[in-house]
Amino acid sequence: MISLRYSTIGEKRKVYEWLCLSDTTPTFMGDPYFPDHPIPTWEEYLDDFEDFYFIEDEKEKGSVMIIENDGEEVGCVCHSSFHLKQECAELDIWMKSEACCGKGFGTTALKMLIEHLQVELRKTKFIIRPAERNIRAVKAYEKAGFRRVVNKEATHKEYYLSDDYLNKYGEGDYGSESTATMTIEI
Ligand SMILES: CC(C)(COP(=O)(O)OP(=O)(O)OC[C@H]1O[C@@H](n2cnc3c(N)ncnc32)[C@H](O)[C@@H]1OP(=O)(O)O)[C@@H](O)C(=O)NCCC(=O)NCCS
Repeated sequence: MISLRYSTIGEKRKVYEWLCLSDTTPTFMGDPYFPDHPIPTWEEYLDDFEDFYFIEDEKEKGSVMIIENDGEEVGCVCHSSFHLKQECAELDIWMKSEACCGKGFGTTALKMLIEHLQVELRKTKFIIRPAERNIRAVKAYEKAGFRRVVNKEATHKEYYLSDDYLNKYGEGDYGSESTATMTIEI
C-alpha cells in the first residue's frame, strides 16, 4: 500500500542520491542519452532544492514528499508552486532505484499527491514536464491522468506567476522542443 509523507531537512542528501546517483539516473539525466540535461552536482542541487522543500510548514511554496510502499521508502514526489499562479502546481517524481520502477508506485503516488494538494492547498491545475524521450515517465503520467498540451506557450502563460519566472523556467529541463508539457485540471 502506497503512502506519502513530508520529508525533513535531514533527508536532503538521500533524496539527492535517489535523483542523481541512482541506477535510474541515466534514464532521464546526463550522458549518454540526456547530454542536454546534465546531472546536477550536490552544490547545484542545493541551489535548486531550497530548504522550504523539506519543511512542512512551508508547503505553500513546494514540498518533497517521501513515497512509501507498506512502510518502506521507494522514492519521492515533489511539487513546486512558488513560481506559479495560486491554483497551480508543478510536479516531479523519481523512484529510488530501478527495482522500485514499473510496479505502479509512481502512478499511484502522483494521483495521491494531486488529491492531497487539492485538499490541503486548493490546487486545481497541475503541470509536469518530462523529456519526450522518457517514454516510461510519459506513460506513467498518462496513466495518472495527465494529457499532453498542444500549445505549450499558451499553457505556460496560463500557469506562470510572472514573465520573470516564465523566462527562467519556461523552456523546461530539456529545452522547449524536447520537453513534453502535460497537464491535468480538476
Ligand atoms: C517515471 C517513474 C516515476 C514512473 O513511475 P513507475 O512506478 O515506474 O511507473 P508505472 O509502473 O506506474 O508505469 C510505467 C509504465 O510505463 C511503461 N513503460 C516502461 N518502459 C516503457 C517503454 N520503454 N516503452 C513503453 N512503455 C514503457 C510500463 O509498462 C508501465 O505501463 P503499464 O502499467 O501500462 O504496463 C519511474 O519509472 C521513475 O522514477 N523513473 C526514473 C526517474 C524519472 O524518469 N523521473 C521522471 C522525471 S520527469
